[in-house]
Amino acid sequence: MKRPFLSVSKFALSTCFALIFSCTEKKTETNSKSDSSTDDIDQKVQSLLSQMTLEEKVGQMTQLNLNMILSNGYGAPFDSVQIDSLRKVVKDRNIGSILNCIDHAYTVEKWHEIITKIQDVATKETRLKIPVIYGIDAIHGVTFTQNSTLFPHNISLAASRNLEMVQKAEGITAMETRASGIRWNFDPVVDVGRQPLWSRFGETFGEDVYLAKVFGAATIKAQQGADVKSSKNVASCMKHFLGYSMPITGKDRSPSIIPEIMLREIFLPPFQAAVNAGVKTVMINSGEINGTPVHSSKYLLTDVLRGELGFKGVVVTDWEDIIRLHTRHKIASTHKEAVKIAIDAGIDMSMVPHDYSFYFLLIELVKEGQIKESRIDESVARILRLKHEVGLFENAYPEKEAIANFGKPEYAKVALDAATEGITLVKNDQNILPLSKGKRILVTGPGANSITALNGCWSHTWQGNMPQFYPEDTKSILEAIKDEIGEKNVVFSEGAGFTEDKDMKAAVAAAKSVDYIVLCLGEDAYAEQPGVIDDLELPESQLNLAKALYATGKPVILVFVEGRPRIFRKIEPQAKGILLAYWPGHEGGPAIADVLFGDANPSGKLPFSYPRFTGNIVPYDHKFTDVIQELKPGIETKTGYYPQYPFGFGLSYTTFTYSNLSVDKKEITGDDKISVSVVVKNTGNRQGKEVVELYSRDLFASITPSLKRLRGFKKISLDPGQEQKVDFTLDKSDFAFVNKDYQTVTEPGEFELMVDTLKTNFIYK
Ligand code: BGC
Repeated sequence: MKRPFLSVSKFALSTCFALIFSCTEKKTETNSKSDSSTDDIDQKVQSLLSQMTLEEKVGQMTQLNLNMILSNGYGAPFDSVQIDSLRKVVKDRNIGSILNCIDHAYTVEKWHEIITKIQDVATKETRLKIPVIYGIDAIHGVTFTQNSTLFPHNISLAASRNLEMVQKAEGITAMETRASGIRWNFDPVVDVGRQPLWSRFGETFGEDVYLAKVFGAATIKAQQGADVKSSKNVASCMKHFLGYSMPITGKDRSPSIIPEIMLREIFLPPFQAAVNAGVKTVMINSGEINGTPVHSSKYLLTDVLRGELGFKGVVVTDWEDIIRLHTRHKIASTHKEAVKIAIDAGIDMSMVPHDYSFYFLLIELVKEGQIKESRIDESVARILRLKHEVGLFENAYPEKEAIANFGKPEYAKVALDAATEGITLVKNDQNILPLSKGKRILVTGPGANSITALNGCWSHTWQGNMPQFYPEDTKSILEAIKDEIGEKNVVFSEGAGFTEDKDMKAAVAAAKSVDYIVLCLGEDAYAEQPGVIDDLELPESQLNLAKALYATGKPVILVFVEGRPRIFRKIEPQAKGILLAYWPGHEGGPAIADVLFGDANPSGKLPFSYPRFTGNIVPYDHKFTDVIQELKPGIETKTGYYPQYPFGFGLSYTTFTYSNLSVDKKEITGDDKISVSVVVKNTGNRQGKEVVELYSRDLFASITPSLKRLRGFKKISLDPGQEQKVDFTLDKSDFAFVNKDYQTVTEPGEFELMVDTLKTNFIYK
């Protein structure tokens, strides 16, 4: 078992202009500044490599878990770094990288103590004084440092459609990681979320390729900055290459079957965008695609990743995944064979992480001539280059100036804005929302007084489900509502657990004295395999509570906190208002209260199609033939795309109207650009933000086209009565697709462009 689930954590147990926050994707990106000194770094790397023994080289390719340098071993809570264990790891075996956090988040000072001890041995006691690179999962803020700023998860950031804000949040994450003495972040997930059952759905930017491309690239640019050496930046890690997010059964790390054409059309582009954004490292998918574990695929890890995508950085395995080629995937009859397969495929560093097996077996393989030392040199050069780029050779220790960037008071406002802008209003019967502050409210449901359900996975612990490790000032929805409207106006009764019944009668009785019911449903925190479920439908305990509360006749507002869309079709019709908050993070409670009582106007748009039926998981960019045609006259038939709410849906407390969708030319050819504009007006009576989304449709193509594809979005802010012209510039690459020869092509023909309900068209010649 990867991690014992004791009571502790993972391891112990276009142009942008004012008020326009996002742009169409930039096609080519320059590498970060540290690459400008490429020759210099190359020389240093080659000179060091030429002095290294085989053992020293293989040590650099080995990554071990933090518990290996503690005195009390795997599964036990954190005690302290033990110098003998540390020397075994870093001095005797020259281990190049350590990862993780044992137990639960540490203070900044504790991290400094750990990193300082490690670098003391690495840079003072080893022959070549090569610093260790420490890696961590800072997934929605710095997961494993106490009092860090926890932002919403990616699924909510994608709902905000606010790239500028996401870059602010990711810049803060980078600063707080670096302030903790750590310079390598295993983030972002750029897997496209096409399987809502998957327990890591909330870590994705949703079902759309374009969203994953632009939000992934924005995250990387913000974390790595103009110079990743700066004490404000960290090296990012795009993950998990490739096809991890669509296991057939929805179970984490179970097989995927993905045709090559789909792999290239849907799953590969975000990784290409991440490479273009200059990402320094990549982590590999633990699963298999079409019978080939990705860790064993030379085709994917070398031909596609390096050959086609042009990736030049470090390839790290995921947790224990070389060992698992033997023990789990069964494609290697011995562990040694697994090491050979993975190295031949293109791995640079093995997240072993609990023993020296990789180290010894790889040395053996080289000595026996089964793997050439020149192959080892390639990987080690990349790892040493990364260490140079993040500045470890100049100063391996936690940087004094970085510490000043931890926990600044203004970060909380960014987290609050991010949580608020992600919240998606999907129902508002007779404008029941916002609620008046003078009324009495029953706050109920399993999510009402839970801080873990607001934060989800990777929050102070791996699973995020241990409230005792959260900062004292973390507010639940209940507490935030009390702050908002005064304690005397709020009644609380939990009513049900996430999966188990609780005192429902008490909640029903409490409803008698109130004007409105705010019922908080969804999911508690979970991560990876412990988050596997068999049924996407909301558990019975929650459905029953909703039905009992509807029966009181009091108006019910549903608030969902959840990492993946749990189906609630049976209780949707009677709800008067519905907010989707995803996993909004530390400021989620106040953000939800602000939206409920009108201090904030919701502006989130769904980054996925919210399913209505478990048997109808169809993305918005489905094929025309997904829609059933041969209907029986007079009999209502559910046509193919029948979600609870469609991709891109989200209401506001104001209204927007669209007009004058136009193109500057009706025909383009070659590399011509086409400008598209539309006028948006705020026709309601309060200020609001609107996400303007541009879709295209290829009318006929040699591979069956999608019904529509998102090609750009801009988020604008409009006062009542204000209108604004919004422009997009596109070219042929925006209308390209992968053809039967796996080439990305734009075929001549007619295309439709769609914004809101407006349409226009043009011809590509
Ligand atoms: C996860 C990765 C994570 C790694 C290190 C794995 O189980 O799949 O996303 O980066 O652990 O913590």
